[in-house]
Amino acid sequence: MAYLIRNARLITAADDATGDLLIEGEQIAAVGRNLPERIGPQLRPEILDADGLWAMPGGIDVHTHLELYSWDTVSADDFYTGQVAALFGGTTAHIDFANQARGQTLREALDAWHARAEGKAIIDYGFHVSITDPTDAVLHEMGQLPAWGVSSVKLFLAYKGVYQLSDGDFFRVCRRAAELGLLPIVHAETGDVIDILVREAIAAGHTEPIWHARTRPPECEAEATHRAIRLAEMAGAPIYIVHLTQREALQAVAHAQQRGTRAFAETCIQYLYWTIDDLARPDFEGAKFVCSPPFRTRDDSAALWRGLADGTLAVVATDHCPFNFATQKTLGRERFDKIPNGVPAIEDRLLLLFSDGVMQERLTPSQFVALTATNPAKLFGLYPRKGALAPGSDADVVLWDPTVRHVRSARTHHMNVDYNLWEGVEVQGKPVKVFSRGRLLVDGDDFRGEPGTGRYLYRGRSAAFAASSR
Ligand code: URP
Ligand code: ZN
Ligand code: ZN
Repeated sequence: MAYLIRNARLITAADDATGDLLIEGEQIAAVGRNLPERIGPQLRPEILDADGLWAMPGGIDVHTHLELYSWDTVSADDFYTGQVAALFGGTTAHIDFANQARGQTLREALDAWHARAEGKAIIDYGFHVSITDPTDAVLHEMGQLPAWGVSSVKLFLAYKGVYQLSDGDFFRVCRRAAELGLLPIVHAETGDVIDILVREAIAAGHTEPIWHARTRPPECEAEATHRAIRLAEMAGAPIYIVHLTQREALQAVAHAQQRGTRAFAETCIQYLYWTIDDLARPDFEGAKFVCSPPFRTRDDSAALWRGLADGTLAVVATDHCPFNFATQKTLGRERFDKIPNGVPAIEDRLLLLFSDGVMQERLTPSQFVALTATNPAKLFGLYPRKGALAPGSDADVVLWDPTVRHVRSARTHHMNVDYNLWEGVEVQGKPVKVFSRGRLLVDGDDFRGEPGTGRYLYRGRSAAFAASSR
């Protein structure tokens, strides 16, 4: 198929101008003013009048957990339902996490995640590999990751006894990653302290969801963020902090950037909204807000908005890891530490960031594109194939109506989960057409995607190796 999008406001991380965009097959063929209908030997394109609409690169969510088995259950979206929801929110590619189990090879971990996506995926997806058991053999095996299309490794300083690495192992993996051109990305909380606080809280009879946040204090995130950055510096590696939530951790990233360290960070859309008070909602409703790191304070959210505007934060992701309230969050009704950690957001990310970021003039349209598509593509080895509106780039394009107002609700969202964090919240702006590799998959309320048509993304080297962090 070919489409000629006429008179859109074309927004990229660098430009904002009215023009046309020609899609031929899977790629963007041309971008400009008054484009002729044919550039190559393709069929006559379908003409789409985009007057009043914005055309942007499809969103890239670099932090998702589809079909993640954890907390004695499984996250509620699989690679089909999660990707349908992503598309309705304007996201056209994502990177999930292939978690190494202890004793497993990295190849086995990757194969297990490929099997989850096989036959289900609609949009393109990649994998970070989480290294939890860094034996000498595994460090050696890391050398295969670039050939397997993996250019980032996830390391945990939290979840003691499950995923957490010692400082020594963290350092060894970062040093090997630097050698291989792999970007280390880190969940930064002080797992040893959290483990003690959780055990003490349970022993004292504290069982309610609010204790999830009280046993994971902000100092833990600040300390571990600082430590991760310093360990990576000593290892000669750049570093990317996932799901950053609070002021001091943000300062640690800003300070590292000021001294020239290649330190990058993402926040997730939910941390711009919710606070520790939401975990205290009555009737166990606080469990809907249990995720790690936990929600903080209004001042922290305000600092994160500033970090997005001033460039300290490079990415807004989701950490989409949904669990149904009625049947899964309730696993922790008797004990907060049994509540599955994670929240749904894959469909909401662009909608909320556009409405409260761009429409409220906290972010420019180009910053919005940079944070949701272009920086993720650059940092995770997908640029300019993804994250760009340029000839030769994949035609992952969102046509966005910036005027339409609508209300977020679990009754109408596409995520396979029984609640929406933004239930009843009115937002402005939504995708009206979403293209993935030239295929029109969302057209208004219609969904046209086919399971099994999404492709695995062989990712290249992260721009973090070339860049200074700002
Ligand atoms: O609560 C969360 N974030 N669940 C998913 C796992 C992780 O730490 O990213
Ligand atoms: Zn995490
Ligand atoms: Zn996560």
